Amino acid sequence: MKNRILTGITTSGTPHLGNYFGAIKPSLELAKKSSDSFFFLADYHSIIKVNNPQEVTSSIENIALAWLSSGLDTKNSYFYKQSDIREILELSWVLHCVTAKGLMNRAHAYKALKENNSDDKGVNMGLFSYPILMSADILMFNSTHVPVGPDQLQHLEMTRDIALRFNHIFGDTFEIPEAVINNDDPIPGIDGRKMSKSYNNVIPLLCDEKTLKKSIMKIVTNSLEPGVPKDHTNCNVFSLYINFASDQEIEEFKDDYANGISWGDAKNKLFDKANETLLPIREKYFDLREQKDLVNDHLSDGAKKVRPLAREFIEVIRSKIGIS
Ligand code: ADP
Ligand code: TRP
Repeated sequence: MKNRILTGITTSGTPHLGNYFGAIKPSLELAKKSSDSFFFLADYHSIIKVNNPQEVTSSIENIALAWLSSGLDTKNSYFYKQSDIREILELSWVLHCVTAKGLMNRAHAYKALKENNSDDKGVNMGLFSYPILMSADILMFNSTHVPVGPDQLQHLEMTRDIALRFNHIFGDTFEIPEAVINNDDPIPGIDGRKMSKSYNNVIPLLCDEKTLKKSIMKIVTNSLEPGVPKDHTNCNVFSLYINFASDQEIEEFKDDYANGISWGDAKNKLFDKANETLLPIREKYFDLREQKDLVNDHLSDGAKKVRPLAREFIEVIRSKIGIS
């Protein structure tokens, strides 16, 4: 069967280890086994939360560089900016009209803001209906597999519901996509909550060695003294370490915990592994960011490749709904 993968990252803030292990790394691995892959910068998603144009522009550049430095091959994939493909917004409206409001009421991001807030203060309509824009991103290209972090599972379920609803009303049109989730639990940030640009608790993917070390040293732990045996479960340092280490190294780290490793030494071990893994990405990033126009050139080539696909499919969709 044709296997088309697609994923996007919102262009707010700096790319971080959660984005890398939740989306970038598994997507690039999956791309090697798939017939087609679509990677895009979800810039229209970012304005839901960010009203600072410079932040959006610089995040577009950094998230694009994160993909390119992590090994994305633009010749064998589609790499583009959401805002360059206007048909996505057109499809988003069409999908709005087949989506029950009740479905959006249940979205986690909305529900979290709504708690103790009967007036919907701080909720814009973009935030409320954002799972529909995400569905349009995915359904526009009939993707079959969507690699994302566990926090996005609900949005994928909504996308499936919306696609099924459209197909039911207007006849078979959309593939029903599947989420591909790599880790059951989100990558924790330095405070133990899900690592997220919104929580200001990230370890950046693209930074120098000193900044990486500083972020790792800030990871919150309990206050057990050196020499006291420690529990590796529910430990932020350990949960980050397993993403970088081999099975054998993980077993050895468990023994270190049982033998009372100090938090300083545990963090240094994490730093050494992280630094070793991230070094080639960092070196590539320092090189690519010096190449003027590189990101824009890649994205404008990508838009040229992607637009014809979107134009052709939106015509099919328009004719299904009686607007052609
Ligand atoms: P953020 O939450 O920092 O705004 P995004 O929402 O742009 O990040 O996420 C882009 C991709 O990275 C999504 O697939 C998302 O599931 C994944 N991702 C983000 N944070 C994490 C995390 N802490 N653990 C695993 N995956 C994550
Ligand atoms: N909503 C995703 C996030 O914040 C980003 C995103 C937008 C996305 N459109 C997508 C991910 C389509 C996968 C497929 O994490």
